[in-house]
Amino acid sequence: MILSIESSCDDSSIAITEISTKKLIYHKKISQELEHSQYGGVVPELASRLHAEALPRILAECEPWFDRLKAIAVTNEPGLGVTLIEGVTMAKALSIALGIPLLPINHLKGHIYSLFIEKESVLPMTVLLVSGGHTQLIEVKSYTEMEMVATTMDDSYGESFDKVAKMMHLGYPGGPLIEKLALKGDGSRFSFTIPLWQSPLIAFSYSGLKNQVRLCVEANDPSAYADIAAAFQQTATEHLIQKLKKYFKSSPPKRFAIVGGASANLYLRSRIEAILAPYKASLYLSELSYCSDNAAMIGRAALEAYTLKLFSNFADISIHPRCKL
Ligand code: KG4
Ligand code: ZN
Repeated sequence: MILSIESSCDDSSIAITEISTKKLIYHKKISQELEHSQYGGVVPELASRLHAEALPRILAECEPWFDRLKAIAVTNEPGLGVTLIEGVTMAKALSIALGIPLLPINHLKGHIYSLFIEKESVLPMTVLLVSGGHTQLIEVKSYTEMEMVATTMDDSYGESFDKVAKMMHLGYPGGPLIEKLALKGDGSRFSFTIPLWQSPLIAFSYSGLKNQVRLCVEANDPSAYADIAAAFQQTATEHLIQKLKKYFKSSPPKRFAIVGGASANLYLRSRIEAILAPYKASLYLSELSYCSDNAAMIGRAALEAYTLKLFSNFADISIHPRCKL
């Protein structure tokens, strides 16, 4: 079995995955959303302290499986430095105490493998990763062959939802709150410019849209917030759709997946389904409970790393907060 640890942002999570069957034996996650909610975003130092409390509490429940573990997997990149270090330090201690190797795991690969928890992988695939930290279009051939074909120039898709929710004093995380509010709104009352709509670049940008929404929120009272949320969600998503359509012209999709916390957005899912239809491409999604950060996806990615013997020892492993793929 492999024990996997995730602490790259505001979720403390540990999983145990059986190597031969890919079965998830144990999985627990303690989210810090409530604690960060009053600040409208993640406060890194607070997140780090909460991981230091939560991770050992979860680990204590895993003790019965300690003697069957073959490796400790841990997210070591990318993420918040002060929170990654909590998981990595725990992993190093376990590796020394149990005399087993470490498997450093890239968090973004974890999101991609969230598609295949307790399943065989189906590759190659084109993947749109939309989370709080990333908006990336990735061609995935195998665990070790992934090519990032587009990324954001500034904010990410999920982050823009968080920031708009903060402007409206709705709380954190903003994605589900804005999606729910948008259902009650009229998306045609306000109109925002779609980012990079005239640019030939296949890239993403959300900071300009965020500023347009800020001006609109400031100029209106809360009774207009549902309409603003609906217009914002439409524009933020239309931007992804425009760039995907452009990309599909030169690289028609066969298998397409949306992963990451924001892949839970049903409006986004339905818009993407519609543009895949002409290509008869199949859409792959993670189970809802595995869309946001969790250790089960790190454990699933670790099965690939284990097969490829991508081991590390406690003295070598380090964190890379800004690494991409
Ligand atoms: O993958 P994740 O848990 O953490 C990162 O790796 O960043 O993603 C969290 C992000 C947050 O920005 C959150 O607002 C966003 O995913 N999110 C959503 C939705 N649910 C979560 N964004 C839009 N619509 C949603 N329904
Ligand atoms: Zn994530």
